[in-house]
Amino acid sequence: MGDSQAHRGVGVLVVGDRVAMVARPDELERARPDARRIDCNRGLLTPGLVDSHTHAVFGRPRYEEQEMRAAGVGYMEIAGHGGGIHASVRDVRQRAMDDLANLAEGRLRRLASYGTTTVEVKSGYGLTLDDELKLLQVIAHVAQRVPLRVIPTWLGAHEIPLEWREQGDAGASYVKMLVNDMLPTITAQHLASFADVFCEPGVFTTEQARTILSASKRAGLGLKLHADELEPSGGAELAAEMGAASADHLAAVSEEGIAALAASQTVATLLPGTMLFLGRPRQAPARALIEAGAAVALATDFNPGTSPTVNFPLILTLGVSQLHMSAAEAIVAATVNGAAALGLADQVGQIAPGFSADLALFDCEDIRELPYWYGDRRCRGTWVRGETCHPTSAPIS
Ligand code: NIG
Ligand code: FE
Repeated sequence: MGDSQAHRGVGVLVVGDRVAMVARPDELERARPDARRIDCNRGLLTPGLVDSHTHAVFGRPRYEEQEMRAAGVGYMEIAGHGGGIHASVRDVRQRAMDDLANLAEGRLRRLASYGTTTVEVKSGYGLTLDDELKLLQVIAHVAQRVPLRVIPTWLGAHEIPLEWREQGDAGASYVKMLVNDMLPTITAQHLASFADVFCEPGVFTTEQARTILSASKRAGLGLKLHADELEPSGGAELAAEMGAASADHLAAVSEEGIAALAASQTVATLLPGTMLFLGRPRQAPARALIEAGAAVALATDFNPGTSPTVNFPLILTLGVSQLHMSAAEAIVAATVNGAAALGLADQVGQIAPGFSADLALFDCEDIRELPYWYGDRRCRGTWVRGETCHPTSAPIS
């Protein structure tokens, strides 16, 4: 998780699905004269980008909320009137699996076209046992249809559903249902690698998050947490204490939360696209986190409410321009540290012998160009496990 290294004039030897050697082309040729050659034509070859936080399975977009926020209505206020996550839940519940799978497939392919090769996808727009199962089955199904590496996360605790709120439930009975009914069904069907909770005042409390994460850990899931997104509530501290793989958002993290993350193995996953799109002035304190010793990842948070972007390099731009990270720190955050946030640090996120051949080729000569050409699609192609993921136009000989 240190600084990134950039080499000029080197090639990568892939054998099977893994990187076997990184060396000068003449050395590679001596080692494997029979190998098929792909000319990267002076492009920039990076580890495939690892997007460790998305909500990529949803139905309709929610552009009406962007205008409402522009007119001064806050994100939580929109949710309080039955919009926000609730609007996506109503929409997803009445859609068939096929419909959701087709939408998700198109969106994942768009993510791939910007250089992403590993993507975490959360459920969380179902919020009933059947609808959360439906979403996780869609994720499993789409994972077979796209060449990306897809990591599924159960986010049954994305909101307290309106029908439970209307019965006066402040989350307690819903949390019981999550832990006693939904979690065992999902783990029995091996539909999720991680559990996540939206821990935020007005949604799930820190204690409720602790209950859900503890049960999920006992059930064998890795842990993630939407922590301290809009207001501080001890989410970062809880994630660190529970040994979560990541604490995500952190725009409102406290000093104690920064210290807790720095002293832990929990990755601080920052989502600057979300704060930009919500029009909020405060971004996560990336510099303070890095300087305290925390591992910082960047991700898109791709979702219909707060971050409808599939453009991961744009998030790198925000990492540099808004979070004051160096280009190298931003690229490490989108590769090595993104992999760590998914428990994949020894498999993806690096171009090194033994790592999976998950690679992205960009039309750039210098790594600093990746965050620089903001909004541009510089990705020429990607590979996952040595196979073409997003089509590359590089000549093969
Ligand atoms: O990460 N904050 C909670 N979840 C998402 C937003 C989901 C939505 O608005 O649909 C997020 O920002
Ligand atoms: Fe999110």
